[in-house]
Amino acid sequence: MIKYFVLYLKAKLECHPELVSLSKDVRNVMVRQAHHDTTMITLRKFLEINNTDKNLARLFTDAIAPAVIEIRHKIECGDLCHCGTENVYGEKQLALDVCSNQIVLDHLKKSGLVNIAASEELESEVEFKKAGKDEKDLFTVVFDPLDGSSLVDVNFAVGSIFGVYPAGSPIGRTGDDQLAACFAVYGPRTTLVLTLGKGTHEFRLNHKENEFFLSKENLKILPQAKYFAPGNLRAAAERDDYLKKIDEYIKKGMTLRYSGGMVPDINHILIKGNGVFSYPSYSATPEGKLRLLFECNPMALLVEQAGGGAIDEGGARILSKKITGLHTRTPIFIGSKSAL
Ligand code: AHG
Ligand code: MN
Ligand code: MN
Repeated sequence: MIKYFVLYLKAKLECHPELVSLSKDVRNVMVRQAHHDTTMITLRKFLEINNTDKNLARLFTDAIAPAVIEIRHKIECGDLCHCGTENVYGEKQLALDVCSNQIVLDHLKKSGLVNIAASEELESEVEFKKAGKDEKDLFTVVFDPLDGSSLVDVNFAVGSIFGVYPAGSPIGRTGDDQLAACFAVYGPRTTLVLTLGKGTHEFRLNHKENEFFLSKENLKILPQAKYFAPGNLRAAAERDDYLKKIDEYIKKGMTLRYSGGMVPDINHILIKGNGVFSYPSYSATPEGKLRLLFECNPMALLVEQAGGGAIDEGGARILSKKITGLHTRTPIFIGSKSAL
């Protein structure tokens, strides 16, 4: 962290020549304050300090982060009723699902950085005009604009999930082709958990400044799990293997932490540094419920970058599974490696 504070201070002095004239002890106060206050590194500064590709950095600072801030606002004050439409899964779309989806699409389009957008809420890919841009400077962004939307009316934490690929269709690729992934948690705080392939980091929204600031760098998931988040528990009624797994967690004295929202449930594992989230298949959903492209691949990259693992119930690594369709689902076990 020291590296950031020195760089931060240098940046401060560079762009504020009047600071150069500061007396040494004031400058030392600034270093001490910077030393204790990680909130001084904005998302933009963090990406710059880590030599992130300029376009990829801009995709996060100028498109994804503003979309998340707008969705947060919508959740606080948007209407919660059903809007009468259904998504590709035949699930009734809440007005919030639909407007969150539009918010993300609008920001991606406005950025001029996106070749293809694919959403959990849309049947097919949306292609934006390249406007003479070279495909190497464009990205494909896949997203679940509002995950756990049915939890908003009971005021549980919900989230948005994003995966970033090089330009072109995601079909035929694997999750390993992702250049970056992130999720936003709309909870007591609004946070963004992000990986660009060099570790997984948390940023917290400062509402006054409408900026995300680095709050936790290089999150780590230990191999041993103390927490478990057993999704689709109803499957244990017909699947003895799942019942046995849950029983094993209970006998080990593990602590239950399950909210019904994949984003806060996996965020809990990343922030506490251990735990396992599961969502297996059963007769009613033979492929599982969670989508490989929009939910499991981004989550798997974020968790693997923090030292955890993500597999399906055959033990196959989530990030190695070929993406054969936008809406394919997969069972998932994700988190501390020794609990999978
Ligand atoms: P979405 O709201 O985007 O459809 O996804 C919700 C998902 C995920 O957040 C959660 O883990 C899972 O649905 C819970 O499913 P059940 O309601 O079947 O338990
Ligand atoms: Mn979802
Ligand atoms: Mn959703």
